[in-house]
Amino acid sequence: MPAAIVVEHLTRRVRDADGWLTILDDLSFEVEAGATVAIVGASGSGKSTLLGLLAGLDLATSGSVTVFGEKILALDEDARAAWRARNLGFVFQSFQLLPQMTALENVMLPLELAGDRHAGERARELLKRVGLGDRLGHYPRTLSGGEQQRVAIARAFAPRPRLLFADEPTGSLDAATGERVIELLFELNREAGATLVLVTHDAQLADRCSMRLMLAGGQLHGAQRQAPVSPGGVARESPGSDRAAPVKAG
Ligand SMILES: Nc1ncnc2c1ncn2[C@@H]1O[C@H](COP(=O)(O)OP(=O)(O)O)[C@@H](O)[C@H]1O
Ligand SMILES: [Mg+2]
Repeated sequence: MPAAIVVEHLTRRVRDADGWLTILDDLSFEVEAGATVAIVGASGSGKSTLLGLLAGLDLATSGSVTVFGEKILALDEDARAAWRARNLGFVFQSFQLLPQMTALENVMLPLELAGDRHAGERARELLKRVGLGDRLGHYPRTLSGGEQQRVAIARAFAPRPRLLFADEPTGSLDAATGERVIELLFELNREAGATLVLVTHDAQLADRCSMRLMLAGGQLHGAQRQAPVSPGGVARESPGSDRAAPVKAG
């Protein structure tokens, strides 16, 4: 299996009042295709910045991000947007649904942009899949937080992306709703074989992933493969993978 994501010497600095602030400091790591990755670390450690760079939503000061062989940060803005549309679903903590569109229209949008002639059918099927078959015509403001997040997940999965990124997808949900949202992400991920990258504060959720990237103060303090722990608390059978075996960490 070729690597899905190869990060080399990734650094991001921004100007602040007293000079340059280093937000990400020389990160290098690789993510296998089909992996489930948890990016963990304290608030302000650079998790969202890293996810934004892996998605080509932002640019690095130096270093590279290669996704399925493509150096995405070398592309111009339009090319990066086109690349995202073809390869990536992104679930934001704050959902970011379009308020003037119904649930169905929100999920159809990326499909229509991709020229899918069966956009309506696929969007309906996915909304049914996430338990919202009876909310197709609802506008975001008439949906609960958990429902909005499920629409956002359906939208992210709709074009069958190879990569699914989520930045604290349960951050604005209560525990029970968050748990259902996470189940859904893993379930859809398993079915689609996509590579899932999650930013999370939740240790249990991080345990369920096959790889953990630990950030502290913008530096990578560990990039470890691990045997995923199932929700019941028992490590899933995973022959040949030693728990927490260090892999190439910058
Ligand atoms: N564009 C920016 N300009 C200045 N500081 C920024 C910018 N983006 C992020 N930061 C700072 O970089 C640090 C890491 O931010 P972030 O990636 O959002 O962290 P996390 O998601 O881990 O909470 C924070 O201290 C944040 O304030
Ligand atoms: Mg963040």
